[in-house]
Amino acid sequence: MATKTKTIGILTSGGDCPGLNAAIRGVAKAALQQGTKVIGVLDGFRGLVENRTMALEDKDVSGILTHGGTFLGSSRDKPHKMSMGGKIMDMTEVAVANAKKNHIDCLVCLGGNGTQKNAMRLHEAGLDVLTLPKTIDNDVAMTEITFGFDSSMAIATEAIDRLHTTASSHHRAIVCEIMGHKAGWLALGAGIAGGADVILIPEIPYDLDCVVEHLMARRHHNKRFSIIAVAEGAVSKKDAQNGKKKKEPLQKEKDGVVLIEEPVASRVAREIQQAAGIEVRFTSLGHVQRGGTPTATDRLLCTRLGTKAGELLAEGTYNVMVGVRGDECVAVPLADVAGKTKLVPPDHAWLKTAALVDTCIGEKF
Ligand code: F6P
Repeated sequence: MATKTKTIGILTSGGDCPGLNAAIRGVAKAALQQGTKVIGVLDGFRGLVENRTMALEDKDVSGILTHGGTFLGSSRDKPHKMSMGGKIMDMTEVAVANAKKNHIDCLVCLGGNGTQKNAMRLHEAGLDVLTLPKTIDNDVAMTEITFGFDSSMAIATEAIDRLHTTASSHHRAIVCEIMGHKAGWLALGAGIAGGADVILIPEIPYDLDCVVEHLMARRHHNKRFSIIAVAEGAVSKKDAQNGKKKKEPLQKEKDGVVLIEEPVASRVAREIQQAAGIEVRFTSLGHVQRGGTPTATDRLLCTRLGTKAGELLAEGTYNVMVGVRGDECVAVPLADVAGKTKLVPPDHAWLKTAALVDTCIGEKF
């Protein structure tokens, strides 16, 4: 069957993650094989607005499966609110016009929730798009998993393993901060896989008394170390009641000065130390969780998602996201994805699993 798509553009947008290059490779190889021209757009939506592109041939996407990051570059720029020479401007029409100038029939956007929304806006402005769910946060709606999550969970789990040995040697409690934006998937997954004794996620505001009680009970049973895995968006019940947001921006600008907020792990460590009187340390894993080579699971997922995108492009199916449902990669309408966030539901099986191995989740389960 002849392909219905002559030319595609492909861009990566938002925070990077392991697997982006594997996904670009999957889309590009499948598209090139069926005779579709592939144009790489540099640095996310900014590259489209500034018309910075490169033609991609098979050799350009060879040997990149295992490489971390994205060779196309990424940015958090949004076409409808872009900083241009110090002014915030709506560049949507320019973005669409540049895509048309490059004869792009469909723009393939690899990104998380922000990217899904931005792609939807471009679609509404007259450009056909297709998206893939990328983020270490695993919080994109209408897909069981996002790529990048498995790799990041493996890194965070290894970090927890390493913290275990030093916490145990020094009989300490160590708080480990794990990314995830407003969702707790990463902290919960890595926390269970790493055997954390306490896991705090944004979806369940934590009760400090409950956490301290759990840590003291461990001491009482002669378990003289504890690991507390805390999601960056975790918030105490007290703060939640006082209207504190689940995830405050890490950097705030005040009077032209950028202030870096105290890491959540530091706050939780201080709270525990004050309430329990035990020695506590903290570690914030930060961007380590987004670096390096993807796991085998992510490489496989990216290749499956990318090649499924290739199939959809060949049949001319646009304005969908390729999601995962069971064993299948499926097309879901982008309108059902954009603007939504997939949080950990209160009855999720992983929470029960954690409780059954006596892990405290910040409240009585
Ligand atoms: O969305 C991915 C993510 O790593 C989040 O977990 C985190 O909150 C955010 O990006 C950090 O963004 P930046 O790299 O822009 O600081």
